[in-house]
Amino acid sequence: MSTLAMDNPATKPTGQSAEKPFFICHDIHAYYGESYVVQGVNFEVRHGEVLALLGRNGAGKTSTLRTIARLDNPALQRGEIWLDGQPVHAMKSFEAARTGIQLVPEDRRIIQGLTVEENLTLAQVAPGVGWDLDRVFGHFPRLAERRRQEGTTLSGGEQQMLAIARAMMRNIKLLLLDEPYEGLAPVIVHEIEGIVNEIKALGITTIIVEQNAVAALRLADRAVILDTGEVAFTGTANEVLDNAELRQQYLAI
Ligand SMILES: Nc1ncnc2c1ncn2[C@@H]1O[C@H](COP(=O)(O)OP(=O)(O)O)[C@@H](O)[C@H]1O
Ligand SMILES: [Mg+2]
Repeated sequence: MSTLAMDNPATKPTGQSAEKPFFICHDIHAYYGESYVVQGVNFEVRHGEVLALLGRNGAGKTSTLRTIARLDNPALQRGEIWLDGQPVHAMKSFEAARTGIQLVPEDRRIIQGLTVEENLTLAQVAPGVGWDLDRVFGHFPRLAERRRQEGTTLSGGEQQMLAIARAMMRNIKLLLLDEPYEGLAPVIVHEIEGIVNEIKALGITTIIVEQNAVAALRLADRAVILDTGEVAFTGTANEVLDNAELRQQYLAI
C-alpha cells in the first residue's frame, strides 16, 4: 500500500481499480410488506463521483437509499449491491455502516439533549475510524462555533451540516444524502453545497437525493431518474439539464 493510501484509506478504492465502478446496484428489488417499491433498479457510481438520484415524490428514492444502507424495510428480495468489491446485499445495516455506507436521513435525527460536540462524538465507532473532531470542525466552521450548543437548537441548515458531519465521523466510503436541502433557504443550500463539494474533492463517493434537482445537478457528475420504482433515465448531469422534456416529464422543473 502506498503512503498516500495509508494516510487516506477512505478515499482509496481497495477492491477494484479506479476505472471500474466503485458502487453497483444490480437489478435490486425491494418491498415494504406486499408493496413492491424498488422494481429492478440498476446503476453504477464511479469512485469519487457524485450521483444525483432524482424523480418525483413517491418514485422510490428514499426506498432505494434505505435498501442500499441495508435497513430492514424495504426488504431486499433480489439483486446485488457492491461497494468497493464488497457484497453489501449480503450485509445487515450495521455491517454496511462498518463497510463505509453512511445514510444521512431526511429528518436528520439530531439527538435531543446533546451538544453539537456530543452528537459528533457519539457517532464515533472506534479510534482512528472516520474523521476526528478537529477535522470535522475544520470543514464545518459553523459547527465549531456552536460546539457547546444543544444540537436541536441549531437552525435547519446547521442541523443538516451536523447530520452530514456525523456521517464523516464514521467509516465513510459512500455518503447517502436524502434531501439535504429540504426546507432550507438558497443561501444555506449554497453553503451545504460547498461542504459537499469539499467532501467530493476529498474523493468520497456520494449519492444525493433531492427534490431541488437543479441544485443536486450542479454538484453531480451523473444522474439517475427513478419513476415508480424503476430507472427511467441514466446519464450525465448536463444531459438532464439540457433535456427540457425529460425534466418536465420526471422532475417537473
Ligand atoms: N414504510 C412504508 N410502507 C409502505 N410503503 C411505503 C413506505 N414508505 C414509502 N412507501 C411507498 O413506497 C413508494 C416509494 O416511496 P419513497 O421511496 O419514499 O419515494 P421518494 O423518496 O422518491 O419520494 C411510495 O409509493 C411510498 O408510498
Ligand atoms: Mg424520499
